[in-house]
Amino acid sequence: MTLRAVLFDAYGTLFDVHSVALLADQLFPGRGDALSQAWRDKQIEYTRLVSMAGTERYRPFWALTRAALQFTAARLGLALTPAQEDRLMNEYRHLSAFPENREVLAELKRRGVPAGILSNGDPEMLEVAVKSAGFGEFFGHVISVHSARRFKTDPAAYALGPAALDLPARDILFVSSNGWDAIGATWHGYTTLWVNRSGGPLEQLDTPPTHTGRSLRDVLPLVGRAAA
Ligand code: LAC
Repeated sequence: MTLRAVLFDAYGTLFDVHSVALLADQLFPGRGDALSQAWRDKQIEYTRLVSMAGTERYRPFWALTRAALQFTAARLGLALTPAQEDRLMNEYRHLSAFPENREVLAELKRRGVPAGILSNGDPEMLEVAVKSAGFGEFFGHVISVHSARRFKTDPAAYALGPAALDLPARDILFVSSNGWDAIGATWHGYTTLWVNRSGGPLEQLDTPPTHTGRSLRDVLPLVGRAAA
């Protein structure tokens, strides 16, 4: 099988969502990791809640991320001031990229393999994140679920990839560090790579991802030069 393009998930895969833990820990000593973990879980829970309720309940990922932060701080009993909230949200705008990403993206470019992003993030967030990581030159397509008003794992969200690339899903390698996202994409027919950075357990949903790896470098053996 020839893989003709690679689509990356953004948050957790290209950008380290837990890079906010450092600032969170400065603001709330000893609670940074707990805040970061629970914030992320709540953010994803909110995407699922609004998607299940229909497109009229859609709110952009940025708004849900802020709402999740407010909820999580209250849940953990942290008195989050508006200024602290803005600082944490600003940190979220400029998340660190994982260290190996640049060399992998540069190698895909060298091989002529089209690469893109398919993310829950809204277009503005993605644009800033890609720009501040200096990755703009690597992505031909930065696809946000925003136009579908549905978050992953809704089929309408995954359908944006093959439509934008004009390729069948199986010819696209979809790469995510979020196990549930790799499985959602597998359900949709993509060839998938789960980058299991943390060595966590496989989601028990009777669908393994096509491939499993530990870092973004594991993309490279799977894709050769772009098919003519
Ligand atoms: C994204 C979420 C899953 O970037 O992190 O789509």
